[in-house]
Amino acid sequence: MLGLKLPTDPRWAEIAEKSIEEILVDHAFCEQKAASSCISLVVQYPDYPRLVRELAPVVTEEWGHFRTVVEEMDRRNIPLGPQRSDEYVVALLAFQPRGLDRKARLLEKLLCCALIEARSCERFRLLSLHCSDEDLRRFYHAFMVSEAGHYRLFMDLAEAYFPKEQVRKRWEDYLEYEAGVMLRFRPRTGRIH
Ligand SMILES: [Fe+2]
Ligand SMILES: [Fe+2]
Repeated sequence: MLGLKLPTDPRWAEIAEKSIEEILVDHAFCEQKAASSCISLVVQYPDYPRLVRELAPVVTEEWGHFRTVVEEMDRRNIPLGPQRSDEYVVALLAFQPRGLDRKARLLEKLLCCALIEARSCERFRLLSLHCSDEDLRRFYHAFMVSEAGHYRLFMDLAEAYFPKEQVRKRWEDYLEYEAGVMLRFRPRTGRIH
């Protein structure tokens, strides 16, 4: 799915549902980070009109996701608590080479975002299919659809600003690398990634 090289074992969803409190907290922070990385891209690349035009509404959407998850947590009396470091994102960022120029960094950032969206989408899909709670299945279905659209958007932006072949090659590198990261992290309970 979405080209990911290491599909998640569907049993992950069962385990995740057992620690749904932690999953929701982690999910809330993921949405918060998604919104803030879109803001950063818009702030750092104001001279890329298509990027600004297409990512500005995603900021609103991701922040809406954050609010939806927090509402669900409120219903369940789950506090957000302190921000935790996200080893998955840290590991992906480590794959971005140092010393690149501003334009080259943009490709790395767009592909990194696309990858996080793709993996989130894959995990939300599993939750939307395998949670025993029907409300949770519906809840995660909506996220799955939305994050799939974001994945596509980041890939489209990459292809708008860089040659298709360069994007394809670098995307392959990212997919390989991410599969290694997932393998290293398995199993992580209470985490979306
Ligand atoms: Fe989101
Ligand atoms: Fe997203």
